[in-house]
Amino acid sequence: MIVGVLTEPISGENRVAATPESVKQLVGKGLKVTVQKGAGVLAGYADEDYKAAGATISPSVDPGTLDVLAHVRPLAPATIKKLKKGTLTVGLMSPASEADAVKALRDNAITSFALELVPRISRAQSMDALTSQALVAGYRCVLEGAMRLPRFFPLYMTAAGTVPPATVLVLGAGVAGLQAIATAKRLGSKVMAYDVRSASADEVRSMGGTFIELELDVAADGAGGYAKELAADRVKRQQELLTPYVSAADVIITTAAIPGRPAPRLITQAMMKGMKPGSVIIDLAAETGGNVEGSKPGTDVAISVGKTGGSITLVGMKDVPSSMAYDASRLFAKNVANLLELMTKDKKVQPDFEDEVVAGACLTHDGQIRHEPTAEAIAAGSAKKGKK
Ligand code: NAI
Repeated sequence: MIVGVLTEPISGENRVAATPESVKQLVGKGLKVTVQKGAGVLAGYADEDYKAAGATISPSVDPGTLDVLAHVRPLAPATIKKLKKGTLTVGLMSPASEADAVKALRDNAITSFALELVPRISRAQSMDALTSQALVAGYRCVLEGAMRLPRFFPLYMTAAGTVPPATVLVLGAGVAGLQAIATAKRLGSKVMAYDVRSASADEVRSMGGTFIELELDVAADGAGGYAKELAADRVKRQQELLTPYVSAADVIITTAAIPGRPAPRLITQAMMKGMKPGSVIIDLAAETGGNVEGSKPGTDVAISVGKTGGSITLVGMKDVPSSMAYDASRLFAKNVANLLELMTKDKKVQPDFEDEVVAGACLTHDGQIRHEPTAEAIAAGSAKKGKK
């Protein structure tokens, strides 16, 4: 069976769905791998290394010749139409915002696996691309904040005087938030963190952060370890209670999300007014509506604060894992290879739909959509598409 890896067609996407290491894994399972010439170049992987790992390098790969197509970004309907019936695809598919592509997968009888749908259970952790890419994003956010802050992160005691450590506030302590806490801690800052899920308090502490308890009088722990959306009055109360912490922070990293919903609004323009000039806010949720009022994906916005005419920098993050394409691809490609390995028997990729990971991750099969997104998820997905 031939597994194909193409150059990602979207400009700004530097990742690749296979690395020499993941090619070796797939070839070891008896699969043939064809990589389009130069597909890994932007991520830092050379054709010769794919070749040495057992792949065939081809100047152009006809999708119609493949049995399996591994990809990073959602496939375009035009690409899907070139695949032969029964081809298996593995990659991110954003089912809620890519309705046309999902229909094309169904109508062309493609067996597609969307990595967003991989169940978040221990056994599937090695195939969980949301987790691997959130880890990259959480780390990167802190570095972006540190680079823009006109201050040190760590405490310095020097002959010229003592420099106090910066205070970093992390809002949303899921996978990305916890990684941000760990990174900010390693850089020597003081880290405060808050999440609406009560279960996150211990995780924050285990990373060395100080957990902020807010008297919200609401249980926001939802199914599957995710948070539930807050009612309008609780959102307002949360903003009021967070305001003093926002004012005290030098760098704020926001990562809050609710599956299938626009990002919750945690920080308003009014809340930013009390911040110290020079402070930085990094909004990782900018592409899904923004945790911070006024954030724009891929843009730095200066917001006036205080009475002296100073400003803070509000950074709307965009395509974050792609900005660290080498390691993001290394983890992503491993997720893809592990899912393919799970489905490979006797040198053939043959999904066993009795397996909960396989069944859970399958988006379309046999001319049917197996996971219809909810109306709410579609609304949130189109908000995200509109922002790009
Ligand atoms: P996510 O990306 O959906 O959300 C990020 C964070 O935002 C979450 O921690 C959520 O509680 C928080 N949040 C939502 N609304 C908020 C608000 N109004 N204020 C403050 N924070 C708010 O979540 P992510 O990072 O994908 O992880 C979700 C859960 O899945 C976690 O409990 C994590 O431990 C669990 N998980 C389990 C895995 C496994 O067992 N294989 C793998 C990865 C994650």
